[in-house]
Amino acid sequence: MVRIPEATVDDIRQNTDIVDVVSQYLQLRKSGQNHFAHCPFHEDNTPSFSVNDQKQIFYCFSCGRGGNVFNFLREIEGLTYPEAIIKTAELTNYPLDQSMVAQVMNQPHYEDSTTGKLYAMNTLAKSFYHHILMNTPLGKPALDYLLNRGLTKETLEEFELGFSPPQRNALFLYLKSQKDTDFEMEHYQNSGLFSQNDQPETQEFLDRFSNRIMFPIHNERGNAIGFSGRIFEEKKDSFPTAKYLNTPETSLFNKSSIIYNFDKAKSAIRRENEAMLFEGYMDVISAWQAGVKNGIASMGTSLTEDQIKRLDRFTDQVVLAFDGDDAGSEAIQRSAHYLTENTHFNVEVVTFPSGLDPDDYIQKHGANEFKEFLTHGRDTYMGFLMQYYRRDRNLANETEQIEYIDNILQELTKVDSLVEREIYLSQLADEFHVSLDTLKTQFETVMSESQARQLDELKQQQRSMRNEVPTVQVSHENKQKFTLVEQAERMLLNRLFYYEEAWLLLNKIDPAFEFVSEDYQLIYILFESYRETDFENTDTEGFLDYLQEDHLKKKVAEIFLIDLGDLVETEIKDYIHVINNVSPVKEAISQKTEALKEAQRAGNTSEQAALAIEIINLNKKLKNEITE
Ligand code: GTP
Ligand code: MN
Repeated sequence: MVRIPEATVDDIRQNTDIVDVVSQYLQLRKSGQNHFAHCPFHEDNTPSFSVNDQKQIFYCFSCGRGGNVFNFLREIEGLTYPEAIIKTAELTNYPLDQSMVAQVMNQPHYEDSTTGKLYAMNTLAKSFYHHILMNTPLGKPALDYLLNRGLTKETLEEFELGFSPPQRNALFLYLKSQKDTDFEMEHYQNSGLFSQNDQPETQEFLDRFSNRIMFPIHNERGNAIGFSGRIFEEKKDSFPTAKYLNTPETSLFNKSSIIYNFDKAKSAIRRENEAMLFEGYMDVISAWQAGVKNGIASMGTSLTEDQIKRLDRFTDQVVLAFDGDDAGSEAIQRSAHYLTENTHFNVEVVTFPSGLDPDDYIQKHGANEFKEFLTHGRDTYMGFLMQYYRRDRNLANETEQIEYIDNILQELTKVDSLVEREIYLSQLADEFHVSLDTLKTQFETVMSESQARQLDELKQQQRSMRNEVPTVQVSHENKQKFTLVEQAERMLLNRLFYYEEAWLLLNKIDPAFEFVSEDYQLIYILFESYRETDFENTDTEGFLDYLQEDHLKKKVAEIFLIDLGDLVETEIKDYIHVINNVSPVKEAISQKTEALKEAQRAGNTSEQAALAIEIINLNKKLKNEITE
């Protein structure tokens, strides 16, 4: 595995002034020791983002993000650590050996492991298919087809589209001919790129994909993990096959966690604080070409919990942009329902005119009108549902009218905003010539029925949860003083102060880890940069001298004094789990439960319903975490 030498990394950092780098992204204003700006990582009304000249770190007093120049570039550009180092070198004109850069950027991780081989195999397959498409007579018809569909050569390069030739052993022979990577039987078997020949003893494999347009699929880091192959020129006498054929589940290719184009889109998603979810790869690619860079797609399925968690690190806003036909609106309905019921995402919907998917729309109306439509053709989820429930209904018929109104009233129980509710109720009243008062009375009834159901479900849940609440080892002396999260954070910091191994484990388990408490996060960041300044000659206690703020010194000193005995490997994982998951959820549940009691005392029914729903969802979340 090629790594950037430690000495080079140090040299790059020392050669870099974080203020210069950050200034390329933000308008900094100097005040005392620090430079300030509005934090680029969240909605920020006051300039809470600071850069410290002397320590060469940044820190946001509002969201708690912070670190050195590499961390800044990782966050703002969505880069990996080595990528951030290389980017820093570029920004500061630091001369780096370009062949090393190429190696670092292209290498799959763990080159010699099975995983590494599978990455390598997929990467080679990708370039093989891509070459066939772009440069050979075999690929010419497919290339013409794609160009005819309006994709440019640059776009085909960008997405590395390819073509798998009709011969069923082309890829196999190509991979065998690779001199400097020797693949073994098990690699061919487990790659998902082949089906085994009838006679396994021949050690020959048949290509899984043939005569298909190949869409390489990448993981979040941009490594090739598999393919989706679109049928091209169906042969007349063979039986019909699926339009898209995917790599089967492999150790790299896990359909339910893949987000198509996430590797490229994530920095735009963060910047624009919004992800555009399309149904198909072609939509994502055309949209990209039209200038919409935050487009993603699932692998033709509804969003899974895992995909949502990944997205959640970058934004809270999802726009569903689907085809206006029935299948399209069903898909929107499913995804939006899931998102609104189970997550805090704000969901908006863009429905394209029936029969046109986003890609068709771009072909027909051009990039500008497309972008216009994405911006101004949006509706709230509720607005979408008002249309959705009309499908297959004849609203001139009274029975169907009543059913429709009932559907909408049910959905309105989930809308928190009074204004929004009022708007939709008035719309209903107008359309069906019912008085607004009557509708409101009807809505109250629906609401209290739904509350009763929710409270029932809640009671049942609580009964079954009672015995399943996770237990966390908590040291005795501090029991009353700190919450569970704080306990875990303090213990984790203590381990990080004294055990190199704790850093390795933390990085392995959760590379994007953050402390919940701002102070602890700051201590963590500062200690990291303290260690980095002069690793050989620093001792943990010296960190106190390095710290300037008295209240931090006090906290650190307290944490030094916690005596936890020898490090147990599973310990770190438990702390991280508590900090990331269990406790925030548990604490949220107890807060909401208190609020629910309050609302019950005050007789505030709509508040009660809203809280009950939140508690139910939090309990579900907690349960998932326990069983994970
Ligand atoms: P074009 O027809 O070339 O415009 O492609 P498209 O991406 O618009 O395809 P479509 O709208 O038919 O399908 C949307 C998405 O559903 C695709 O991108 C795939 O992810 C998935 N999908 C469609 N058909 C199949 C299939 O036969 N098998 C599998 N596994 N997925 C499919
Ligand atoms: Mn399409």
